[in-house]
Amino acid sequence: MGRIEVGASGCGCERALVARVWARGVGCASKLGLMDPVFAVVTAAGSGTRLGYDMPKALVELDGVTLVQRAVRGMQQLSDIVGIVVTAPAQALSDFESIFEGDPAITVVPGGSVRQMSVYNGLVEIPVLARRLGYEVTGSTPVLIHDAARCLTPQRAISDVISALRDGCKAVIPALAVTDTQKIVASKSATSSGIEIEKVTGQVDRSELRAVQTPQGFHWETIMKAHDLGARRFKDTGVDATDDGALVEQMGQDVFLTKGSQMSMKITTKLDMVIAAELLRHDSLRADL
Ligand code: C5P
Repeated sequence: MGRIEVGASGCGCERALVARVWARGVGCASKLGLMDPVFAVVTAAGSGTRLGYDMPKALVELDGVTLVQRAVRGMQQLSDIVGIVVTAPAQALSDFESIFEGDPAITVVPGGSVRQMSVYNGLVEIPVLARRLGYEVTGSTPVLIHDAARCLTPQRAISDVISALRDGCKAVIPALAVTDTQKIVASKSATSSGIEIEKVTGQVDRSELRAVQTPQGFHWETIMKAHDLGARRFKDTGVDATDDGALVEQMGQDVFLTKGSQMSMKITTKLDMVIAAELLRHDSLRADL
């Protein structure tokens, strides 16, 4: 499962075309044998505040391994992914650099004030990393953007995104159906005794909703254009997007969903850490999620 069917006109770009583009690249097609290489940005520049740690969240250890190492290792399980840019909090840059020291396929850059700007910093580094590794990025090069906080994402969820990109979709996001009923609310108020309340103003049809995850995947040209526009918007208005797919939607381009995984949960709270640690102990359960 996990593949979305697209016709020749569905995603606007066919596999044969992608292959031809890479055949013209500088040695990359021959280096890999056939497939176009994939690059990734792993965002790890967030703080650990909500997790209750006085350190960057990505440096928190889960069963002895930091979240960022788990996320990067998870991506390196797929041989298609040849280079990874990790975004780190500026004040902890050297900690992250020493973690990945000695691996030429990984480079660490300082993140931005919001996730969107961290991703932007990571994206602009991809052509530099690619050149250093002997590749050249083209318009259709698949680029994945993954949250270090989703460090348990299974290979299947990642490879589905890559396959859909190679099948010609330019923007692909893993997602899951929403299980809780969802309400729309007005602004917050309080009862006479100070209980915080929100008035319900509507309900959305749950069957039409999806909760999105990472890695989100894009063709290089599409995501760079979306982020260039997003960076300009953020500078002018202070408004940012919490996921990269939203920036592509704002350009009026199609975004497609693949099947996500419950294992791709974002580790945000202490409860998430407990659940993640428990999941690590249950191989058979993990396989079904
Ligand atoms: O804050 P949130 O949980 O939404 O962050 C999602 C991911 O984005 C995390 O992996 C976090 O490290 C990263 N992030 C970042 N730069 C920021 C804020 C968050 O790379 N300024």
